[in-house]
Amino acid sequence: MIDARTKLLALIGHPVAHSLSPRFQNAALQYLRLPFVYLAFDIPPERLRDALEAFRVLGVLGFNVTVPHKEAICPFLDVLEEEAKVLQAVNTVVNREGKFFGYNTDVYGFQESLRREGVVVSGKTFLLLGAGGAAKSALFVLAKEKAQKVYLMNRTHERAVALCAWARNVLGFSCEVLPWLSQEVQAVHGIINATSLGLGGEVLPLPWEAFPSLEVVIDLVYHREGTPLVWEAKMRGIKSFDGKYMLLYQGARSFSLFTGVSAPLEVMEEALFGGF
Ligand SMILES: NC(=O)c1ccc[n+]([C@@H]2O[C@H](COP(=O)([O-])OP(=O)(O)OC[C@H]3O[C@@H](n4cnc5c(N)ncnc54)[C@H](OP(=O)(O)O)[C@@H]3O)[C@@H](O)[C@H]2O)c1
Repeated sequence: MIDARTKLLALIGHPVAHSLSPRFQNAALQYLRLPFVYLAFDIPPERLRDALEAFRVLGVLGFNVTVPHKEAICPFLDVLEEEAKVLQAVNTVVNREGKFFGYNTDVYGFQESLRREGVVVSGKTFLLLGAGGAAKSALFVLAKEKAQKVYLMNRTHERAVALCAWARNVLGFSCEVLPWLSQEVQAVHGIINATSLGLGGEVLPLPWEAFPSLEVVIDLVYHREGTPLVWEAKMRGIKSFDGKYMLLYQGARSFSLFTGVSAPLEVMEEALFGGF
């Protein structure tokens, strides 16, 4: 029940109307009868600073951050924790006595989705498509879990080069940048789509014949009916899954950071996938 003691949790992004976070965060809060409510706010980039100030004044206890604010928010936070500091990207903020602590739970979400699906990274070769925030989180995990080699491709070549330079300088991990949809890849075990292609049903025109050793195809995009990339991989007999579990686990970790309580995963999963 909402009463005078109910505290606010939030999501900020632009746009946010499509987000599934309010649905599964509120389901978990209600299930555990916690005195919080979770709302989504559409904040354009030029109002980010004002929104953070308003959150401080209102005593918002925590909030998630999505596109396009994940990197832009960093200078406004008091403390960057762990992965957030390395990635300079935040998707979760916790307000502790007026101080804003920034976390990156996308990394945990991706890692857990790999674990759940039994994907081995160590010693394997991956092709990573994309060079935005999601690709950066995925590359961090591939480096941390000791992938043998990563090929990086992005529509805007310069962004792939910049991501590769970040990996080398910050993570001490080398990857190889190739032209977008190039066939010059060899012995790839896994493909990760970290572009937004597939969100609107677009097909990724991959040169499938160039990947005879392919074991798994991972799409970070998620969709109610599965994504075109996942369908295509499965049709070719290759293990494949989309970004649903990454979404679930990043949200579960955020929930624990906000509330100090373990997330009721099954409740969140039902709220999330029940609507899929
Ligand atoms: N499952 C999850 O929990 C989760 C979490 C985060 C993100 N995601 C998914 O990952 C996607 C990317 O997120 P992000 O945060 O990295 O976004 P972002 O920073 O805006 O990056 C978007 C990426 O998509 C590429 N792209 C966009 N339109 C394209 C097109 N028509 N053809 C080829 N490439 C295109 C961009 O290439 P350019 O550099 O050339 O523009 C860039 O690499 C999102 O759409 C979302 O579905 C999922």
